[in-house]
Amino acid sequence: MKRIYSNISLADRNSFGVQQSAATLVEFESAQDLRDYFMEHRPERWYVLGAGNNTLFTQDYDGVLFTPISRKRTILASTEDYVELRAEAAHDWDELVEWSVNEGLWSVENLSAIPSSVGAAPVQNIGAYGAEAKDAITVVEYFDTRTLEVVRLNNADCHFAYRESVFKQELKGHVIILAVEFRLSRHAKPNLGYGDVITEVEARGGATLRNIRDAICAIRSRKLPDPKVLGNAGSFFKNPIVERAVADSLLLKYPDMPHYAMPGDDSKLKLAAGWLIDRAGLKGYRDGSVGVHDRQALVLVNHGGATGGDVMRLAYYVCGKVKEMFGVEISPEVNVL
Ligand code: EPU
Repeated sequence: MKRIYSNISLADRNSFGVQQSAATLVEFESAQDLRDYFMEHRPERWYVLGAGNNTLFTQDYDGVLFTPISRKRTILASTEDYVELRAEAAHDWDELVEWSVNEGLWSVENLSAIPSSVGAAPVQNIGAYGAEAKDAITVVEYFDTRTLEVVRLNNADCHFAYRESVFKQELKGHVIILAVEFRLSRHAKPNLGYGDVITEVEARGGATLRNIRDAICAIRSRKLPDPKVLGNAGSFFKNPIVERAVADSLLLKYPDMPHYAMPGDDSKLKLAAGWLIDRAGLKGYRDGSVGVHDRQALVLVNHGGATGGDVMRLAYYVCGKVKEMFGVEISPEVNVL
């Protein structure tokens, strides 16, 4: 079953809370709904809008937005070692994490409280606290708008990397994700190496799934603004990956600069965009209705009534200041339309 809306407001469909509209929005349940729509309308300009947590509209959208509405969850296999699970694209990400913690299943607990739908998770390979969605994903199923067929892609063919996947590269603009399959482990494998996670977990009595989830929810809610209260899209920028020589020369000047190894690539290091923005003096900076969050400089916020253009103006300003001070380019993680 699909529902088609015309000239629809997007205010409640994007976590930045910007007031834009779309010419057409199609809520779909199945691949057949999409096939019917594409055969009848052959849309040229379209975009998938999931829960709207990672998209910034800078103008009214004059094409077709496709929003999945199926939230089904199905267990595909259950063994002594793992459970294989399928969740449809509109399933809430954090409900999946909560379910898996309740069931005693490991692999996604560090990804607690990330505002996302399941269908969006593989696109930018959501990640936090030393874990990424790719660690648990086995298959991504999508509708190919060129062939009108359903395709199943296994993990290796998704070309996952830091905030990257084939869905942001070769398949961008060609596919609509229908469902994601996961393998969740029955064996405890706590991943506590990132930042203050271990301290928070120990304070709760040790590395149980529930304690890890609670610790991560607590850390996130201290640093990250709730989009229902203050419009935002989580990290606005990606952490920049630079040549080792660039990081080394910055470290001479800023010995306390956070930097992380890139697994499998010794020649590069990842820097913390939040730290760079903070050090550029912009944490808590405000320009009218938009600002840099005062507890996590990686997050741009809508203080109320901002347009997408206001957010982008601030984003350019922040990039310019970071470039001027450190010579490092930072780029948005958010999809800008
Ligand atoms: N830092 C500052 N000032 C700030 C922010 C950060 O000095 O305002 C420093 C921190 O002290 C730390 C370093 O920068 O030394 C890294 O900060 P943090 O651990 O908070 O993580 P991050 O690199 O800023 C990334 C993800 C987050 C994820 C956290 C935790 C990206 C773009 N962001 O942020 O993801 O929750 O790690 O793993 O990779 C998101 O994608 O929306 C998101 C929130």
